[in-house]
Amino acid sequence: MSIQNEIQRRKTFAIISHPDAGKTTLTEKLLLFGGAIQTAGAVKSNKITKTAASDFMEIERQRGISVATSVMVFEYNGMLVNLLDTPGHKDFAEDTYRTLTAVDSVILVIDSSKGVEPQTRRLMEVCRMRDTPVIVFINKMDLEGRDAFDLLDELETELNIKVQPLSWPISKGYSFKGVYKLYDKTLNLFESLKTKINDEVISIQDLNDPQLDQWVGEYAEQLREDVDLIENVYDPFSIDAYRAGKLAPVFFGSAMNNFGVKELLDKFLEIAPIPQHRESNIRVVEPDEKKFSGFVFKIHANIDPRHRDRIAFLRVCSGTFERNTFYRHVRLSKDFKFPNPVTFMASAKSTIDEAYAGDVIGLYDTGNFKIGDTLTEGENMMFKGIPNFSPEIFKELINRDPMKTKQLEKGIRQLTEEGVAQLFLQEPGTRKIVGTVGELQFEVIKYRLEHEYGAKCDFETKSFYKACWITSTDDAKLHEFKRIKGQNMVKDKEDNDVFLAPSKFMLEMEQKNYPELTFHFTSEFKVAL
Ligand code: G4P
Repeated sequence: MSIQNEIQRRKTFAIISHPDAGKTTLTEKLLLFGGAIQTAGAVKSNKITKTAASDFMEIERQRGISVATSVMVFEYNGMLVNLLDTPGHKDFAEDTYRTLTAVDSVILVIDSSKGVEPQTRRLMEVCRMRDTPVIVFINKMDLEGRDAFDLLDELETELNIKVQPLSWPISKGYSFKGVYKLYDKTLNLFESLKTKINDEVISIQDLNDPQLDQWVGEYAEQLREDVDLIENVYDPFSIDAYRAGKLAPVFFGSAMNNFGVKELLDKFLEIAPIPQHRESNIRVVEPDEKKFSGFVFKIHANIDPRHRDRIAFLRVCSGTFERNTFYRHVRLSKDFKFPNPVTFMASAKSTIDEAYAGDVIGLYDTGNFKIGDTLTEGENMMFKGIPNFSPEIFKELINRDPMKTKQLEKGIRQLTEEGVAQLFLQEPGTRKIVGTVGELQFEVIKYRLEHEYGAKCDFETKSFYKACWITSTDDAKLHEFKRIKGQNMVKDKEDNDVFLAPSKFMLEMEQKNYPELTFHFTSEFKVAL
């Protein structure tokens, strides 16, 4: 198959949601359709119910490095689908943000009774930064949820994106009758899994057909009114607006009852973008270029001390990746070859010989990779769009065993390279400030430093509000700011100047006092979150 054909049949995406909206359930149903799993319950939720490191460790141990939950590949109707997993726990949101840099589109799951929730908002902000196309699946229609029009309004105002229903629910909760698919004028009647016999789809070209009353009874009139309203309000669905990240099509269903999932998958495969171009620091890289390139967006360490290897997850951006071929690790200016690259077909890990743009492969790593690293066939370029976001919790790392200083240094460096947390250094000296988006990571770091590196540490809370990357064209002003704010100035791992603002108020004041300085809220200095 030509490289063009390989790209044309690929879709690389992630499912995102606020915890409990139904991401795991929907993932499982999609994998069932794709034949990647045979039984329900096979997908282990990566949800951590208690905020305890031991919980997290246990789940990680069970999942292990061999479990294929970071990317799930399946074929469906001739298409090859790369479904990237995102962590369920909010403390690991940064991991999710980075995964979003490796996909071409997302499916956002919303709980019909809850609507937009905090994590939904933040995830969407990240999608909006890159104009990632979004399909919304409003889940749990079998429960007494909110009014469908209200939900659409809320999505539009809270997520700052235009939405358009492609299916429409007929009642909800106990009286949920099913959905009417606006795009092909068919009716899909709801049967809960318990009563489900077949997936009959009824074509109903004219909603005034009295047969509709037979099918959905007293709800027929409401459906006629709703559809009339929708057809008056919305223009015909624009696939271009969706692919440009400006319009989010909306589906309704119930993942648990496997209802509305097939329609979602079919439509997703029809409209979702194939692997897209990616920006590097010097040029735009097209997926069908002959030469291979890709970037690392996630590193999964094995926390089982008997197997200390790590897997670096690489998104192929262009060309064909081949096993056992030397590629340039741009940051290290060194060539590496990979005898055992892995893919994750049908829930099992297997070695692959080739991978194409859009694919995500696992590369065994002994410590050479960090997040954001680029591999090429020799070209000196680095992919952009894998920024660090400002952490929300800051703590100083305190060494509890001076005899193990070296181990602690190595451990914290490696863990932060994996993306577990961000490390800021204060000069002069070796004061280390660790920043995360959740408390859980500190426990994880402490546990892992002790068990994997033999180092002991404590954390001392620092009440910083945000980390801002500081730049200026006025060197004298920048210098002055750094001198006066010495207590709050640190360096990130790339040696960038970072200001740890003590409060929102102080940050706003500094922004006013120093108009010559720019305060960035991500390390890539593009868009403020
Ligand atoms: P998450 O990954 O987004 O965190 O959510 P997950 O799929 O784990 O779903 C959260 C809960 O919502 C689960 O119940 C799941 O069964 C339920 N759920 C998912 N889809 C639907 C749906 O369409 N209708 C209804 N009524 N419930 C749904 P749980 O009690 O937390 O777990 P479980 O014991 O059912 O596995």
